[in-house]
Amino acid sequence: MRIQMQKKNDDKAVPELQAAFQMALPGKLLALDRPPLVPEIRLWLVDAALMNGPLTHEEAQAVVAEPAYWSFCWASGQVLARWILDHPEAVKGRRVLDVGSGSGVVAIAAALCGALEVIACDVDPLALLAVQSNAEANGVEIGVRETLPEADQHDVICAADILYDRDNLSLLDRFRQLAPAVLLADSRVRNLTSPGYTQFMSQDAITWPDLDELKEFRTVRLFKGER
Ligand SMILES: C[S@@+](CC[C@H](N)C(=O)[O-])C[C@H]1O[C@@H](n2cnc3c(N)ncnc32)[C@H](O)[C@@H]1O
Repeated sequence: MRIQMQKKNDDKAVPELQAAFQMALPGKLLALDRPPLVPEIRLWLVDAALMNGPLTHEEAQAVVAEPAYWSFCWASGQVLARWILDHPEAVKGRRVLDVGSGSGVVAIAAALCGALEVIACDVDPLALLAVQSNAEANGVEIGVRETLPEADQHDVICAADILYDRDNLSLLDRFRQLAPAVLLADSRVRNLTSPGYTQFMSQDAITWPDLDELKEFRTVRLFKGER
């Protein structure tokens, strides 16, 4: 799926994104921001300056009810993007697929590290619009797909913070079939028992802007999946 995006000024997110965002969080705005763990990357996110601290309980509920997941840079996405930026050899010259891309933080990190091709996949069409907007803000090119591109060739599949939906656990085997290397970041599942996956790192991080998530969701684990 290719989404047409109108040209925009650097200081104004595409109107569709702003409008959709207002549905989820009335009164809040999007702003170009640099998440604390990956200051190299600029993303259109909830304006942290207008947050006055973490979201209220009602606002957090609104995010979950009308998920504008792409308007936050999730703890897992930040940790995986940081790891990629620090280990560019993991993606350089490779075809990278980022599943559950949200804002596109992981896809953008891969593109900045010289990946041969980067595809972002997300079930939310607005997330794909956000990915394209954010790719442009970082001067990189990223293809977008609404469904898993199973027929394409992938060298590395990345996925950050998609296991909050336990149905996605079934994707983990599929990822290993589709690519020789999988990089998975998650803060929700403590004991991942899926065959072929091994944890290689953990790091504390917070979603940006701060959603004031429970402490138990602030430790991100990185897993490698291999055939
Ligand atoms: C919590 S956000 C994480 C976004 C980003 N990876 C990050 O870490 O900032 C989860 C994203 O995964 C997407 N998603 C969930 N299940 C998916 C699936 N089965 N296929 C594609 N996208 C999915 C959601 O629409 C949402 O944008």
